[in-house]
Amino acid sequence: MNKITVVGAGNVGATTAQRLAEKELAGTIVMVDVIEGVPQGKGLDQWETAPIEGFDSRVVGSNGYGEAAGSELFVVTAGIARKPGMSREDLLKTNVDIVKSVAQEIGKCAPEAIVIVVSNPLDTMCYVMKEVLGAPRERVLGMAGVLDTARYRAFIAEALDVSVEDIQAMVLGGHGDTMVPLVSYTTVSGIPITQLLRQDVIDKLVERTRNGGAEIVAHLKTGSAYYAPSAAAVQMVEAIAKNKKRVLPCAAWLEGEYGMRGLFLGVPCKLGARGLEQIVEVELTSRERIALGKSAEAVRESMAQARL
Ligand code: NAI
Ligand code: 2OP
Repeated sequence: MNKITVVGAGNVGATTAQRLAEKELAGTIVMVDVIEGVPQGKGLDQWETAPIEGFDSRVVGSNGYGEAAGSELFVVTAGIARKPGMSREDLLKTNVDIVKSVAQEIGKCAPEAIVIVVSNPLDTMCYVMKEVLGAPRERVLGMAGVLDTARYRAFIAEALDVSVEDIQAMVLGGHGDTMVPLVSYTTVSGIPITQLLRQDVIDKLVERTRNGGAEIVAHLKTGSAYYAPSAAAVQMVEAIAKNKKRVLPCAAWLEGEYGMRGLFLGVPCKLGARGLEQIVEVELTSRERIALGKSAEAVRESMAQARL
C-alpha cells in the first residue's frame, strides 16, 4: 500500500506503527494523536530504527489529518484503555465520543479507506465507526478474534508443550467475557484437542482465554495489553495489503449470517484487498450456538448504550 494511518499513538498504536513499518506494509505509515509532540516524537524515533532494521517505510507523526489524506487503510486505536477493576464497557462513553470524531475525520480525508477498529468496547466501537463513516461493511472491521485466538493457542501450546504453530483454533463472539472459543474446531495438526486434553483442562484454558485481557491488566496495573493486540491488528492489515484471502476471526457487521443481523460480532472472515470479502459460516455445536447468541446479546446491550 502507499499509505496506512494509525490513529492513537499510545501503547497499541505506536507498537502497531512500528510493526507495520518493519514489515514494510506501506510506503508511509502515519501516526495521528491528539497529544502534541507524541506522534511526532514516536514517529521520528521509529523512522530512526529503519537503518538498523532495514526497512524503507517512512513513519511520520501528526496531530492533524493532513498527512493522513489519501490513506488506503486506517487502524483506529484512539481512546482510553482499561485499568484494574475496569471492564471494557467502562470505557464506553469516552471512547464513543473519540471514535465518532475519528470517523468524521476519516470521512473527510480518506472516505474510501478500509478501517480496522481496535478501540474498546470493540464491537460497539466498530458500530460507531460504521454508522458515522457511513461505509459499507466490507470496509469496517474490528480486531479482537485474532488476539483472543492467539491467547487461546498460546495457552494450549503451553499445556501440551508443543509448538504454537501446530495449534489451529478460532475464538468467535464479542470481545468480552462472553467470547466463544470454538473447542469443536480446535486441533493440534488436525488432531481434535478433545483427544489430547481432558475436558476439565480444556474448560480451564477456555476460561483463561476469556479473562486474557484482564490477566494482563492485573499485571500491568497502569494499562492493558499491547504487544499481542498490535501483532493481531498487523496480521489483519497484512492479509488486506497483500490480498492474501486469509480466513481470520474478526468483528464484522452481520446481515443474516449465523442467524443474526444489525450488529458487529466476531466471526470467521475472509480478508483481501477489498477488506471483508466473505463471512464464512461454519456449523456449530448447540452449546457453541447458544454461547454465540448470548455473546450477541451482550454486544447489543453495549450498542444500546452508545446512543448515536
Ligand atoms: P493508550 O492510552 O496507550 O493510547 C491511546 C491513545 O489514544 C493516547 O495516546 C491518546 O492520546 C490517544 N487519543 C485519545 N483521543 C484521541 C483522538 N481523538 N484522536 C487521536 N488519538 C486520540 O491506550 P492503548 O493501550 O493503546 O489502547 C488503545 C485502545 O485500544 C483502548 O480503548 C483499549 O481498550 C483498546 N484495546 C483493544 C484491544 C482489542 O482486542 N480490540 C486490545 C488492546 C487494547
Ligand atoms: C485486551 O483484550 C484490553 O481488549 C484488551 O487485552
